[in-house]
Amino acid sequence: MSLNQKINSFLGKKVWVIGASSGIGQATAHALLKLGAKVALSSRRTSSLEEIKAGYPKQNSLVIGCDVLDEASLKNAYKTIKDSWGELDLLLYVAGVYEPLRADEFSLEKAKTIIATNVIGPMSACSVVLPDLIRQRNGGIGIVGSVAGYSGLPKALAYGPSKAAMINFCENLYYDLAPLGINVYMINPGFVATEATAKNDFHMPALITSDVAAKHIIDGMIAGDFDIHFPKQFSLFLKFLRILPYSIYFFLLKKFVKI
Ligand SMILES: NC(=O)c1ccc[n+]([C@@H]2O[C@H](COP(=O)([O-])OP(=O)(O)OC[C@H]3O[C@@H](n4cnc5c(N)ncnc54)[C@H](OP(=O)(O)O)[C@@H]3O)[C@@H](O)[C@H]2O)c1
Repeated sequence: MSLNQKINSFLGKKVWVIGASSGIGQATAHALLKLGAKVALSSRRTSSLEEIKAGYPKQNSLVIGCDVLDEASLKNAYKTIKDSWGELDLLLYVAGVYEPLRADEFSLEKAKTIIATNVIGPMSACSVVLPDLIRQRNGGIGIVGSVAGYSGLPKALAYGPSKAAMINFCENLYYDLAPLGINVYMINPGFVATEATAKNDFHMPALITSDVAAKHIIDGMIAGDFDIHFPKQFSLFLKFLRILPYSIYFFLLKKFVKI
């Protein structure tokens, strides 16, 4: 059963992709533009956003530099979109940072950046668009979290909690917004080959490309899914692990995860 309304077509839909300059966000922005959506491209590296824009009809995209750690820049970006295009159909928050952290190398500074970008960032972006979406009584919000939010995993001492928070945040958002006709997409990818994961020095099971990740995201939204997770062979396995008793969960982690 679909928890959200299905999307018949992205043609002409106005989508704000935050974190569009690389990886999953960039691939999703391309995929949306190919489907005829109008895409507002945001992140700090505007040169990468300009490169995306150059491949499509000029009127179909906007390049709006912004830093999610700076609330004012998010507000200004949204104002530019509204002034240029009017009502927004979908906020897609993809921006995020990943830093491997364990207890013996814990850095509060790194942890603060992770929490600011992966938790406060999406909350700030939502706070900017929510009043209009609620007034419109339509549109949607998609937030890219991670399967790392399902349960505690090695080297994810700050990243894991940041993504766990987004799972809870999306569940809350869905509860509040679904009755108003606003779609909420909780997007939890497994390993995707991007700049962020290039630093990993361990085998990443079920690794997929950004283009494949983008297809999962778009197919999930078209189908009206709330819980968009992929690749299934990995995400379902992790969903299963998290329902096990902790004694078995930690035993299996220790036995099979060698990082
Ligand atoms: N790759 C994976 O295996 C994987 C798995 C699960 C979930 N995810 C999640 O997927 C999302 C995208 O990750 P990715 O792998 O595609 O990483 P990526 O290639 O490093 O892309 C990260 C994006 O976030 C933007 N960003 C970071 N800090 C920002 C800031 N302060 N203000 C504005 N934009 C900012 C970056 O843009 P600028 O640097 O230009 O600002 C970039 O566009 C993240 O939320 C990540 O946690 C990734």
